[in-house]
Amino acid sequence: MPCVLLRGCMQMSRLIVDGGIPLCGELKVQGSKNSALPVLAAAILCNAPCTIHNCPALSDTDASCRILSYLGYGVERHGASITVTPRDFKRYDIPEDLMREMRSSIVFLGAISAKAGRAHISFPGGCELGPRPIDLHLAALRQLGLAIEEDHGWLNCRVINRLTGANIALSFPSVGATENILLAAVTAQGETMIVNAAREPEVVDLAVFLNECGAKIIGAGESVIRVTGVKELHGCEHAVIPDRIVAATYMAAAGITAGEVKLNGVSAMHMSPVIPVFEEAGCTVLMDGGSLVIRRHGLLRPVKNVRTMPYPGFPTDAQAPVMAMSTIAAGTSVFVENIFENRYKHAAELIRLGAKIKTEGRVAVV
Ligand code: UD1
Repeated sequence: MPCVLLRGCMQMSRLIVDGGIPLCGELKVQGSKNSALPVLAAAILCNAPCTIHNCPALSDTDASCRILSYLGYGVERHGASITVTPRDFKRYDIPEDLMREMRSSIVFLGAISAKAGRAHISFPGGCELGPRPIDLHLAALRQLGLAIEEDHGWLNCRVINRLTGANIALSFPSVGATENILLAAVTAQGETMIVNAAREPEVVDLAVFLNECGAKIIGAGESVIRVTGVKELHGCEHAVIPDRIVAATYMAAAGITAGEVKLNGVSAMHMSPVIPVFEEAGCTVLMDGGSLVIRRHGLLRPVKNVRTMPYPGFPTDAQAPVMAMSTIAAGTSVFVENIFENRYKHAAELIRLGAKIKTEGRVAVV
């Protein structure tokens, strides 16, 4: 018997949850969306088919597939595996409606520019997390030799001679900017060094995929990444990493409902920034190989100070589910959101459900 009855489905505009029962069970965590999207964009660079396994079935992966088809690639999906085949690459633009479907479509900029020598795309626009600037992406791509004109919400980009390696120091370890630099640098002439690169597992996964296709990237997962440009990339088969944010969300659900959940196919290393927070809240977390078991007995305790930080800090994407958990803890929890300016929209909805939350700038007291 299911512990929580969920009526509705993803395509419907509402989900109805009949709650109040501990969540108990076992499941395999799906592949990471934030890995699948840049890896799908990277397939543009390959001169032979790539099969990407463990792709989650989400509107963002569908949008990436539509962009690839529009650009002239063959895209076939069988379950969680997507095969991208180079066919007739003639286009270097992405229509505005496809760009707007997902903010992370900006990761196509580096790949299209490297492949076609030009790109014409619209600004991705803001989102529910507040303004999401792309200045770091653009400055870095300019350093690699991409001329970029910003024209009424559009980016007109052209490689003047060849993309050429450069030393790029990021003022913030932006995940998307690091990914765009990798995509533009792998087939650029010479060496690129990225200083203060994002260290997120999804950046490492992209680098692993690119190296499997013949790229020369060293240092992914560290603050300094070095890329030696190669002439071309071949195809490969690659399985994207499990989604650590989805896993953290299930963990919060187990904590909230005082349940016991076993998550299979997770990475202990990727989960290490969130596990101490669940333990502080009074949950027991056991890792055994690629499985994680979380259980809660007794009252939830407050979490003293959850500060979101770039990896290996506590992930901003896990802040909302952990805040939901802390609303029923016996005491006061404090959150400091250091990554995005406007990431407490869920607080207003939790308050409507009876939570006691005060937000002031980057701080939320629950
Ligand atoms: C990615 C993830 C997102 C996650 C975030 C932080 C994907 C598809 N999305 O988003 O789920 O929450 O990392 O871990 O992988 N910034 C600038 N200028 C830029 C780029 C970023 O100021 O050019 C700022 C952003 O406004 C934000 C911070 O840097 O305040 C972090 O952004 P970034 O790491 O780039 O996040 P995304 O790649 O957009």
